[in-house]
Amino acid sequence: MNEPYDFGLIGLGVMGRNFILNVADKGFSALGHDLDSEKVSALKEEGGNPEKVDATTEIKDFVAGLSKPRKIMLLVPAGKAVDAVISSIRPYLENGDLLIDGGNSFFSDTDRRTTELADKGIHFFGAGVSGGAKGARLGPSIMPGGSKEAYEHIRPVFEAVAAKYEGEPCVAYLGPKSAGNYVKMVHNGIEYGLMQLTSEVYDFLKRVGNLDNLALQKVFSDWNKGRLQSYLVEITANILGTRDKLGDGFLVDQILDKAKQKGTGKWTSQNAMDLGIPVPTIDIAVSMRQISALKELRQTADGNYDHPGLESEDPAALIRLAEAALYFSFIIAYSQGLHQLREASEEYGYELQLSTIAKIWRAGCIIRAGLLQDISHAFSKNADLEHLLLAPDMIPLIREAVPSVRTLLKKAIDNGVPMPGLSSALVYFDAFTSGRLSLNLIQAQRDYFGAHTYERVDREGTFHTEWYKD
Ligand code: 6PG
Repeated sequence: MNEPYDFGLIGLGVMGRNFILNVADKGFSALGHDLDSEKVSALKEEGGNPEKVDATTEIKDFVAGLSKPRKIMLLVPAGKAVDAVISSIRPYLENGDLLIDGGNSFFSDTDRRTTELADKGIHFFGAGVSGGAKGARLGPSIMPGGSKEAYEHIRPVFEAVAAKYEGEPCVAYLGPKSAGNYVKMVHNGIEYGLMQLTSEVYDFLKRVGNLDNLALQKVFSDWNKGRLQSYLVEITANILGTRDKLGDGFLVDQILDKAKQKGTGKWTSQNAMDLGIPVPTIDIAVSMRQISALKELRQTADGNYDHPGLESEDPAALIRLAEAALYFSFIIAYSQGLHQLREASEEYGYELQLSTIAKIWRAGCIIRAGLLQDISHAFSKNADLEHLLLAPDMIPLIREAVPSVRTLLKKAIDNGVPMPGLSSALVYFDAFTSGRLSLNLIQAQRDYFGAHTYERVDREGTFHTEWYKD
């Protein structure tokens, strides 16, 4: 009989297989489980040495093969599959075991599962894992939440397998209950925002700057060496330079402009609405995926309306504007997501440290970016910082970029190039930095038609006016 394995993993799809191989690379023995015998065989073959990595289709053998307290990670699709796995494994688990859901589960599902499993003394964790298949193999960013004491059992494995930023592991205990899934959900909301913003800037430079794919590849690749350094800018450059193997030209031009989604961006928006925190750049990124899906309607509408003629302009000047605009709007997307996390922490008792979250996003995850170093500094300097736009070190950076955003958006409007993400970022900024907004009129209207009352700027109290009698 083998020595018990240090770590167990259920769900040997690409992510699961890569994650378990990563664990084994770091010196921990690991046992996998999947009902699909082909996936089990594939892992056994790839793992090489069964004393280090093995796998089984039998759940009972799987549980029996793990050292106690058992540390079992689930990498299966969010939703019913997670509940099905929990039901199948629950009878074999014992007091003190750890079950870690590494998928994009909805946070309230995690809270429910935590309570259900606590009855049996099982510690349930929601641990968002970001970085895709490559990240799982070479070092993801991991966002765990659950019992702080029980986390110590899994900490050595997670710190070993996580991506490193200047030697620091991109994983940290984030908070109780579903804190990990919540943070990963907002990570994905920000991801939607950054992707939408990147796609708009690409479209603008292509259409108004008249840049071809190779020129655009160079632009994004140059940007990736500066303050825009980020995974999404880096892969955009790679994508733009990729030729189509099924035909002439570049692959990106052959890809249908209908973006799919699995729901995490939408959940971020929906929950931000529930919390009363505005995240319009994330909202519009979700809406744009929905608009993109209306391909046939869009094509019909396209034929019914005129579009302004495109005025080609000096590309070098446009590239400079676009760089500043992307930088500005990236900051806004992170600001909105972090604001939401701050409020969620209060509402759900997550005790989140925003500086820690920004730190573990600096490498491994999809939204990793040089900018996160500045953001983590801002929250490290002041843990009570209410909003990133109030951070003293961020103010000059944002101030300097804003005029370029305005200039670029005017050109986009004149040329009929839709830039809803960038527009929303600027509008959010303009509204957030307005000491006085136009909503005094809305209060007056509410009071006029519904006697909803209003407050005054010059005295305390609640007022109602019989408007139509005046
Ligand atoms: C990550 C990603 C990942 C997510 C995909 C697809 O951090 O590795 O966020 O978890 O599932 O990006 O998301 P959509 O299908 O919703 O675009």
